Amino acid sequence: MKALLINGSPREGGNTSELVKQFMNAACGKADIEEVRIFGKDISGCNNCGTCQKTILREHCTISDDMSDLYPKFISSDLIIFASPIYMWQFTPCTLAFINRLHCLCWSSDLEYNEMAGKSMAVLITSSDAEDAADLAAAGLREFCGFFSISYKGDLRIPFAGKSRISSGEYDGEIREFIGRVFR
Ligand SMILES: Cc1cc2nc3c(=O)[nH]c(=O)nc-3n(C[C@H](O)[C@H](O)[C@H](O)COP(=O)(O)O)c2cc1C
Repeated sequence: MKALLINGSPREGGNTSELVKQFMNAACGKADIEEVRIFGKDISGCNNCGTCQKTILREHCTISDDMSDLYPKFISSDLIIFASPIYMWQFTPCTLAFINRLHCLCWSSDLEYNEMAGKSMAVLITSSDAEDAADLAAAGLREFCGFFSISYKGDLRIPFAGKSRISSGEYDGEIREFIGRVFR
């Protein structure tokens, strides 16, 4: 199985990246997983030019930015795992921009063309408030998956997140349980 982990945290050594590190260590051998940090990459939101909804574009999108390198990685992956802190009850702007730009991988009117169908998705989330701080973001991703025939494997939420607690092994059980769900 090929998996792509999209890390949307701006902080390289922060809570989410520490959670990603723990996840990658625990998931070692389960799949061929590539992590891509997207903060700082040039990824703009969809501009609704509509071109991708009338034809299948060889380059996928008319916007020429760093998504050009990410589309082939996305398309060749069976499983996409997002990792994001919660910012204002949502995923980070770069994570949302990435998800926006998946628009060109299907015709959303009739889904006659849908390169996302049959893939799986899951998400690692950190927040400074309680678990329900992630409700809106997780629900949005679940809806997205349902609409585009992607299997949603769920989320792992680390509320009241702190790097030292994440690195201490406190969440090893939850991470193992999440891995069990994701790679089932
Ligand atoms: C702009 C901004 C908005 C945030 N909004 C929320 C929020 O709505 N709910 C919440 O629980 N935490 C919120 N947080 C806290 C982060 O989600 C939390 O500290 C997270 O673990 C940071 O992850 P990182 O170390 O990977 O950056 C926010 C942080 C920032 C910087």
